[in-house]
Amino acid sequence: MVTVRAPATSANLGSGYDVFGAALGRPADVVRVEKADRTTIDVTGVGSQYIPEDPEKNTVGAVAEALEAPAHIEIDKGVRPASGLGSSAASAAAAAVGLNELYGRGLTREELVPIAAEGEAVVSGAAHADNVAPSIMGGFTIARHDGVTSVDASIPLVTCLPEVVISTRDARKVVPETASMTDVVEVVGNASTLAVGMARDDPALVGRGMEDAIVTPARAELITGYAAVRTAALEAGATGVTISGAGPAIIAACRESDRRTIASAMIDAFAEVDVEARAYQTRIG
Ligand code: HSE
Repeated sequence: MVTVRAPATSANLGSGYDVFGAALGRPADVVRVEKADRTTIDVTGVGSQYIPEDPEKNTVGAVAEALEAPAHIEIDKGVRPASGLGSSAASAAAAAVGLNELYGRGLTREELVPIAAEGEAVVSGAAHADNVAPSIMGGFTIARHDGVTSVDASIPLVTCLPEVVISTRDARKVVPETASMTDVVEVVGNASTLAVGMARDDPALVGRGMEDAIVTPARAELITGYAAVRTAALEAGATGVTISGAGPAIIAACRESDRRTIASAMIDAFAEVDVEARAYQTRIG
């Protein structure tokens, strides 16, 4: 039996839709794999009642098939499904790493990224790798169609998760199909700023680079209280605020000394619009 812990992640980071991702210190999924003649899945933990155990419908079933590694797979969910914190990706990433070891497949972590991304396609309809890449490799990741670049970054963050569910599949439907050249130029500038900020461990640059004029405004409409929570976090000292993944979680980059105040401000702002929320004080790592 092999046991693997895979962390929650935040994808997009505003300006890097389907490209940027960051591993979060917490929460995390724990996956145990044991060789078997056919794949079976047991799910426990946060939101497990909403997760199918049929290997055809569960993210880890696709991973076991891609690795030709049938197993009994136990998933202990720490990352709530439909949160915007890479829940399906954490399970897929842990299964990919665990099954690779269990069956001695010898694949590198980078080679496991597209395999784990197959699991994402089961859930969201698209094999985007921006959550599985950081969940497998850690740090800040840039997922391209031909590979992943990763950087060890250490930026303090607050992730605030409201008691609201948004499916990635639905949130992908509101993403505009086209963008103006003006917006593209702005996003390229922001994304480049963010990447440099990660390499320098500079929360001000990372926060500045989270600005996004294309995807985030469309998705913000799906999250009750988004504008107020964003403003509250910025007033409390956040260097940048955006939607985490497909939402509804909202992520704030900051300096460590401001983290607690920002977490309270975000929870209070959600409460003002009658939405219960919890906050994780964490960091990219
Ligand atoms: N890049 C994906 C999206 C992440 O925004 O749809 C989903 O968690």
